[in-house]
Amino acid sequence: MSGSNLLFILTGSVACYKACDAVSRLVKFGHRVRVVATASALRFIGAPTLEGLTGSPVLSDLWAPGRALDHIELTRWADAVIVCPATAHTLNRFAAGLADDLVGALFLAHDRTKPWLVAPAMNPAMWSHPATQASVEKLRSWDIHFLPVGEGRTACGETGEGRLAEPDLIVATIEAALARPARRLHVLITSGGTAEPLDGVRVLTNSSTGRTGALLAEHFIRCGHEVVMLRAEQSTAAPPLCRAENFTSFADLDAALARLLGAEHFDTVLHAAAVSDFAIHSLFQEGVKQPFSRTKIASGVPLRLELTPQAKLVDQLRPRSRNPNITVVAFKLTQGVEAALVLMEVQSLLAHSRADFVVHNDYTQRGEGMDAFPATIYSAEAHRLAQCATRTELAAALERMLSAQPIQA
Ligand SMILES: Cc1cc2nc3c(=O)[nH]c(=O)nc-3n(C[C@H](O)[C@H](O)[C@H](O)COP(=O)(O)O)c2cc1C
Repeated sequence: MSGSNLLFILTGSVACYKACDAVSRLVKFGHRVRVVATASALRFIGAPTLEGLTGSPVLSDLWAPGRALDHIELTRWADAVIVCPATAHTLNRFAAGLADDLVGALFLAHDRTKPWLVAPAMNPAMWSHPATQASVEKLRSWDIHFLPVGEGRTACGETGEGRLAEPDLIVATIEAALARPARRLHVLITSGGTAEPLDGVRVLTNSSTGRTGALLAEHFIRCGHEVVMLRAEQSTAAPPLCRAENFTSFADLDAALARLLGAEHFDTVLHAAAVSDFAIHSLFQEGVKQPFSRTKIASGVPLRLELTPQAKLVDQLRPRSRNPNITVVAFKLTQGVEAALVLMEVQSLLAHSRADFVVHNDYTQRGEGMDAFPATIYSAEAHRLAQCATRTELAAALERMLSAQPIQA
């Protein structure tokens, strides 16, 4: 979370330019970032750039006058350390325990109760070399946490494994490592709208973008919780560090919820998906009922659909849950309905779903901005608990409330 002390170590790779993006974002998120760069790293990126991004001088030399105890003081100061990009040379030196430069001395002197993260970047041959792989294995056994390397074309023009992770993933991993939630929740989030097939190419769907679910997932991960996301295939992508599964139709989501809730002990489920209220019962052309087929329905002929009400998945969350004390957060969307009616709708949802919280929002009140999302959180007794203007506020309020829920055996 914001306001932590982060020691960011850069070593000599072309990918130093990508690391600058991550440094910049971490500073924007409110972290105090100190940079150490090896002599090789400073051939790829200038100290003034790093100093400009962090507001602190860059440290590089173990023997710099007046800085003799930096390697001790910095490890005491830092809440977490990341080596990004990490070269093969530095990984092999760490594994050998060499400490004849500032980075090596920091590694040996670090407080091993605090996270030490490594984001490797190198040419595929260097990454797959037995020397590097043996070092990685050794470092992992010492509880060093490795970010995955990317696959694709590296700066040297070769294709394979070894690219630096993307800044989104680097930042998310650091924030998750820095977060120390009082209670680490296992969270299931549904997101985006279901789409019911009319034929092999057409669907009946709704206007849900999945932005709310994705932002909730991102916030809960940043706070150190473990998130599983069930997201509509066409909706906003899942954030880094999120285990995500896709769904398309009501039937897909229904099956995935039954499977996941039955198999895993979730502390909470946030059911933000916009599930179709109607199922396609029959389809008629020229008065003749058409059997459902994956073949594209002919255009130019009137098509009549008969829709029937769909079962409420939200009602099945608690009965399906392996954890009988799961906290259920239901969502209610209305459109221009007056306050008294909203309350009745919320009360009805609470009654049939046995939810612990309901998030209500009115489609007509949605603002212009990407984040605008006027919403009210209601308790199980239909009391107003919080009023939020944005998705960010909603995510923060829900995280606070869910973290404070008593643990029930
Ligand atoms: C243009 C260029 C790009 C390089 N890129 C990488 C790289 O991505 N990964 C790596 O492990 N080494 C790379 N090297 C080699 C390292 O910079 C070299 O091994 C250096 O000694 C690493 O020192 P350090 O780990 O102390 O920073 C590169 C070298 C050059 C000249």
